[in-house]
Amino acid sequence: MKRLGINIDHVATIRNARGESHPDPVFAAKFIKQIGVDSITIHLREDRRHIKDIDAKKICLIKGLKVNLEISTKDEIVKNAIKIKPNFVCIVPENRKEITTEGGLNLEKNKKRLKKIIYKFKKLKIRTSLFINANQKDILLSRKLGADCIEIHTGTFSNLIKLKNNYSKELLKIKKCANLAKSIGLEVHAGHGLDYKSTKILSKIKELEEFNIGHFIIGESIFYGLPKVIKNFKKVIN
Ligand code: PXP
Repeated sequence: MKRLGINIDHVATIRNARGESHPDPVFAAKFIKQIGVDSITIHLREDRRHIKDIDAKKICLIKGLKVNLEISTKDEIVKNAIKIKPNFVCIVPENRKEITTEGGLNLEKNKKRLKKIIYKFKKLKIRTSLFINANQKDILLSRKLGADCIEIHTGTFSNLIKLKNNYSKELLKIKKCANLAKSIGLEVHAGHGLDYKSTKILSKIKELEEFNIGHFIIGESIFYGLPKVIKNFKKVIN
């Protein structure tokens, strides 16, 4: 069975638009747990534009809920993540001006730093994933750095589908990378920009074990509600 992780950053985005407390991402996490998903993803960004420290702390205290915390490599964020104690971390690149995470990590440039961070989480038995572009060099390096998993950035693939362009080359790249990663002992995840169509196509790749999806699910839920949309995605991935 492939796993579904729901990114609830956008619940916090809506809350923050009013500077008040509704809708509460902690309530969203509890609500989604009851519907039954495999994990919740939250991104504690350096600029705290959506999820705040207090949200992350409270969400990580929800019993029986697996939390995947996305973090940058900044010291302050890593220290907070260690205090917050999520079940999983996913290390992502961060750029203050970006609207969302635009690509995978530059592993080569940050390898020393990443290795140290991964080691810290390993000691705490926190599963660590690296968010990378679909390229074989980064997969081999992820393994060398000690990561447990990789999450393949599916933004390019998703955009090709949305624009109704030919996606076969990009799909093949993802397939080959998933295959290589699995063969060297990495668990393989996928995320970014996914909707029903792109997820359905990727769900055919047997090595992909986890999908992390946010914006489309929250957006679609405005019309159809979270329980229905999550149910649909569970069907799509398996
Ligand atoms: N996975 C990672 C590592 C991400 O950074 C994001 C965006 O925060 C997602 C998945 C979810 O992307 P989207 O909101 O486009 O579904």
